[in-house]
Amino acid sequence: MDLTRRSFLIGTAGLPLASRRTGDPFTLGVASGDPTADGIVLWTRLAPRPLADGGHGGMPDRDVAVEWQLAEDERFTRVVRSGTATARPSWAHSVHVEPAGLQPGREYFYRFRTGGHLSPTGRTRTAPAPGTTPDLAFGVVSCSNYEQGYFTAYRRLAEQQPDLVLHLGDYIYEYAPGGYRNSAGTIVRSHTEHRCQTLAEFRLRHAQYKTDPDLRALHALAPWIAVNDDHEIENNWAGVHPGTSGRPDFAQRKRAGYRAYYEHLPLRRSALPRGSGMRLYRRLAWGDLTTFHVLDTRQFRDDQPCDDGVRADCAARLATGRVLVGAAQRAWLAAGLRASRTRWNMLAQQIFMAQHDYHLGPGKEVLLDTWDGYTAERDRVLGDVVASGARNPVVLTGDIHCHYASDLLADFDDPDSRRVGVELVTTSVTSDGDGYDAPAARAVELAENPHIAYADQRRGFITARLTPTELRADFHTLPYVTKRNAPSAVTASFTVTDGAHRLSRSAVPAPRAPQAAAAGAPRHP
Ligand SMILES: [Fe+2]
Repeated sequence: MDLTRRSFLIGTAGLPLASRRTGDPFTLGVASGDPTADGIVLWTRLAPRPLADGGHGGMPDRDVAVEWQLAEDERFTRVVRSGTATARPSWAHSVHVEPAGLQPGREYFYRFRTGGHLSPTGRTRTAPAPGTTPDLAFGVVSCSNYEQGYFTAYRRLAEQQPDLVLHLGDYIYEYAPGGYRNSAGTIVRSHTEHRCQTLAEFRLRHAQYKTDPDLRALHALAPWIAVNDDHEIENNWAGVHPGTSGRPDFAQRKRAGYRAYYEHLPLRRSALPRGSGMRLYRRLAWGDLTTFHVLDTRQFRDDQPCDDGVRADCAARLATGRVLVGAAQRAWLAAGLRASRTRWNMLAQQIFMAQHDYHLGPGKEVLLDTWDGYTAERDRVLGDVVASGARNPVVLTGDIHCHYASDLLADFDDPDSRRVGVELVTTSVTSDGDGYDAPAARAVELAENPHIAYADQRRGFITARLTPTELRADFHTLPYVTKRNAPSAVTASFTVTDGAHRLSRSAVPAPRAPQAAAAGAPRHP
């Protein structure tokens, strides 16, 4: 790890003075994403008043020219690409630039300028060249509800200096203020008014989320691979079927939600929304070390069976004709797995894939929004994984607001059946509030589900370190999110060795120095 990289500041302390002037259009920060060996997406959105009525961010109704620079060094003495992009009102003055012809496997810095204002500097990285297998450190996050806590987990992940961040969905929540009250009643800050329905409402919600400095810090620190789950539109929607909002005009809501998602994330032009849909399943290679097969488990699925929920008596979930990823995406995945020559194959997706029995004692109770509601499709996809011969499959999952680590079995009812791969499930950043550690309940849950090795109900994130011979996954948790500045600690670690197709528990690393002191200072003491 080179010195430039270590000294890159995260957080507002590093902002140039211009950014604090009145009228600064870069209040939402900068971001980068979808790295390839020779390119990257650079993003910003102009919004001097992010929460101004109408969702226009306080921008005038006209095109605005935005200059951008990409450099090899943080001081921009070696600029390798630059240009001018047009920020249009029809896209909420968002900017997506895709510089190409870059060097593989190296760090870059980028920034934007318009009207005398300079953006914060972002750090990014291209994927390594094909044929090479340098180590990769990446983070996995999902489920950040603005009302239910502070986004400290994003900052703690940034402090770990990952090369790459995977966001697996529920980047925003669509509810009206106070609209999502469950076990965790505490609301630390209020959503913008109204449940999101119109494009203006989705734009305001996204802008509000980006007013959080910890979220901006993680975007500025490393490239992201992002994919939505349900709450970017509405709770538990499925294909053409609305979710639980009980409101009309679902297609309109979906169109607005997808458009706002595109406008606020560093996505490629290939993801530009069309009609009420968006192409987000895609494949990204990291040299010959790993392929990320990013799946979309929302847009092409049949409706949840048996009216959704957690149920014991739903025969429809076993029906062979029901799909989750759909025929086209499944064929695309199978072809990609067959063609893959990388050491690892990460299936980055949203919902719990392993069987998960919530019922204590005989009989099974499962959550029908997950792969358990679509068991024939799970069998087909895991069958495709095995048949492809793709090396070291690893499923990465979000959605469920708990950490889990599981082995994936050919037959989940037979603990001795073939190991297909492993599943690492990241907990939420804030959703469901502070959470808790409940060893007794956990022991019962794991006894019911012998293929699940670990569960934790606290908030946090996963970091993973990948080499040609080993995957190491560290599960980080925070003791609270309803107060600011929580520390984080690794509470479980697992390794998977090349060819093993199963998890091994490993010792957790020693705690690091107090993290409040580390913010804004060089990491890795
Ligand atoms: Fe969620």
